[in-house]
Amino acid sequence: MKIAVLPGDGIGPEITAQAVRVLEALAADGLPLEMANAPVGGAGVDAAGDPLPAETLALCEASDAILFGSVGGPAYDSLPRPQRPEQGLLRLRKHFDLFANLRPALVYPELAHASSLRPELVAGLDILIIRELTGDIYFGQPRGIRQTESGEREGFDTMRYTEGEIRRIARTAFEAARKRDRRVCSVDKANVLETTQLWRDVVTETHADYPDIALSHMYVDNAAMQLVRAPRQFDVIVTGNMFGDILSDEASMLTGSIGMLPSASLNARGFGLYEPIHGSAPDIAGQDKANPLATIISAAMLLRYSLDQEAAAQRIERAVSRVLASGLRTADIAAEGEATIGTVAMGDAVLAAL
Ligand code: IPM
Ligand code: MG
Repeated sequence: MKIAVLPGDGIGPEITAQAVRVLEALAADGLPLEMANAPVGGAGVDAAGDPLPAETLALCEASDAILFGSVGGPAYDSLPRPQRPEQGLLRLRKHFDLFANLRPALVYPELAHASSLRPELVAGLDILIIRELTGDIYFGQPRGIRQTESGEREGFDTMRYTEGEIRRIARTAFEAARKRDRRVCSVDKANVLETTQLWRDVVTETHADYPDIALSHMYVDNAAMQLVRAPRQFDVIVTGNMFGDILSDEASMLTGSIGMLPSASLNARGFGLYEPIHGSAPDIAGQDKANPLATIISAAMLLRYSLDQEAAAQRIERAVSRVLASGLRTADIAAEGEATIGTVAMGDAVLAAL
């Protein structure tokens, strides 16, 4: 089973290194895993003048799954858009048709204090955000910055979804809900936007095939509010690319740290890219401060969804739970005054627990 490891920029190399150590430990225990690294994002620009070098894409194509770190950094912010680090990630999503982005927001009991909400509001929180990842205003054409007749510049992007795109992500959400509390909340802005009126209609039609699932609809502004008012009302949230980008960052904070949240981006054949939902954190890069747990848990998701290795996935998740229960903390999840450890020491702890 081949895994393409794309560390990327900022803290990406440090955190993926810890996840790779965990995977190597499983390999040493008999799981037939093979890992190979390739540059992406700013590292791709540095190595080959392209945020997604041809050799990196070829490695991904020859692999069964991708483990991704993070991309971006101040050094690349002024490059023309096609060379921006984020394009490496967006092109991978599009190339492999990774339309289903699973972003669980789970509160570990020991970390409820780290949430920006009162612990009694978030204790036991377990939400799965399913974000459509290859359509919407992120990819819609036309887009650009043009000159109007009056000589002003005008920026424009296009929000669009076909019913096929909506139907397949709705199915993903209903299927996922069957393995959970059987509730799906679809988030849109159907009171204003035509695209999301179609979204609501198609999600409702698709629901006819899933009578065992309770479906509700919510406008995105209300959903943003409900997530901080009473987040435990949600089980599965399904939404478009743009709203999902925003709501998943918001949901991450409910859990105490964006440094804890993994994600999976899957296509119809189960091939996937796995990445922490946090970014490249250039401010702490190279300082052994970053929390590697989101990436380590992403590796567990990779084993579960793309390699069908449920037992190995659970081994990693149990190891992470034990490390947290034992009180070890990186700075982002520490309570005030609590002792902290660095990236490598956290990796050591997970390996020891494994
Ligand atoms: C995410 C990120 C990306 C996105 C960026 C890095 C392109 O914010 O995965 O949520 O907007 O999708
Ligand atoms: Mg985002």
